[in-house]
Amino acid sequence: MLSALQIEGGYPLLGQVRVSGAKNAGLVLMAASILAEGEVILDNLPRIRDVEIMDKILNDIGVTTHWRPDGSLSICPPNSSLKTKTSYELAKMLRASNLFLGAMLGRQKEAIISLPGGCDIGSRPMDLHIKGVQALGSEIQIEHGYIYANAKNPTGASVYLDFPSVGATENIIMMAAKAKGTTIIENSAKEPEIVDLANFLNSMGARIRGAGTDVIKIEGVDELIGGRYSIIPDRIEAGTFMIAAAITKGEILIENVIPTHLHPVIAKLQETGALVENTDSGLIVKAGQAINPIDIKTLPYPGFPTDMQSQMMALLCLAEGPSVIVENVFENRFQIVDELKRMGAKIKVEGHTAVVEGVDYLHGTTVKATDLRAGAALILAALAAEGETKIEDAIHIFRGYENVREKLTNLGAKVS
Ligand code: EPZ
Repeated sequence: MLSALQIEGGYPLLGQVRVSGAKNAGLVLMAASILAEGEVILDNLPRIRDVEIMDKILNDIGVTTHWRPDGSLSICPPNSSLKTKTSYELAKMLRASNLFLGAMLGRQKEAIISLPGGCDIGSRPMDLHIKGVQALGSEIQIEHGYIYANAKNPTGASVYLDFPSVGATENIIMMAAKAKGTTIIENSAKEPEIVDLANFLNSMGARIRGAGTDVIKIEGVDELIGGRYSIIPDRIEAGTFMIAAAITKGEILIENVIPTHLHPVIAKLQETGALVENTDSGLIVKAGQAINPIDIKTLPYPGFPTDMQSQMMALLCLAEGPSVIVENVFENRFQIVDELKRMGAKIKVEGHTAVVEGVDYLHGTTVKATDLRAGAALILAALAAEGETKIEDAIHIFRGYENVREKLTNLGAKVS
């Protein structure tokens, strides 16, 4: 796998790009598939590094998987019980391995999950995950960096989430799907990936209502059958290419999107002066005359997504005036600021707030991707910058963007 990307900036991106399946839906559906008796086939799963690691974790715990000729992934949980302890080596590479907490408790009433390591965007605690599975009857021990969870008699309960955590909502849904009785999650996350999980489990015989709202009701069932399911498109990949059109003064047709999943991104991008048109074949995004400065506040869905914050910051570096960005979801998601400043950006950070002064141009240099979305944002900045940019640790980008080099090159970018 490449460890660096070299980009020569200054070329408008023109043409069309097809968005891949959503990383954050695919990962939770891969974990949820162990709840099924029988084969699960997932369509539209992106071939990205995070999916490959999740696939290895499934194999490591005893689940047979194979990629079918049509590009779908077949997942066959065995009749016997699975190994409950996910391997630390694999789990530390992927935060989403914590989704086996709910899936394992739902399947076999016990789970041993390695506490996620600190990540570049914050400490990523699991207190709400634990509150949820405890409410449904799990005994929890935390020692030697592992969560040991055991539920002799998983029983539905009401759980209030202090914060609408995506992962905590998903873990509770997966455990509740096979617990006795009814579970109510209040203040649940409303992301489209939660709706995709509920639709997937309901297609297997689960009884989940209210996904996409802040109250989700789950009636436990005894058995979930396998089946075939196609994952929603990746709204964050789509948003990233929308900004690529705006920042390079280009025009891109973005295919395979669900516009409602992108409303906050469309609205804010239009405020910057970009033209966004919703057509039958997808979203056409055209750069505006100039880039207007705007204010951004990241919030849980349907607010402006935190996963688009770095990408929007890259665009606003070239706006005609000062923009204010407030990051309300993660406590440390401004890593990219220092890298953008190396390219000539003028940004001032005070706690959760970044003030971005627009500059006339960015210049290419060597920068480092600290996390997946910061890496994507550095690509956007490099595409617009004058001269060559080398992005180190580009491996982060390959975690979440399928065929990113080919997609960019097909749009006229100079990437090597
Ligand atoms: C999911 O992470 C996504 N990952 C993230 O995408 C995304 O940024 C995030 O949701 C928010 O939308 C996957 O779906 C695999 P959270 P998750 O639990 O579930 C705090 C990407 O780039 N919190 O909603 O881990 C937490 O610290 C990734 O694709 C607690 O305090 O996010 C954070 O500040 C990055 N206690 C906030 O909630 C808990 O028990 C949001 O976290 C859980 C979370």
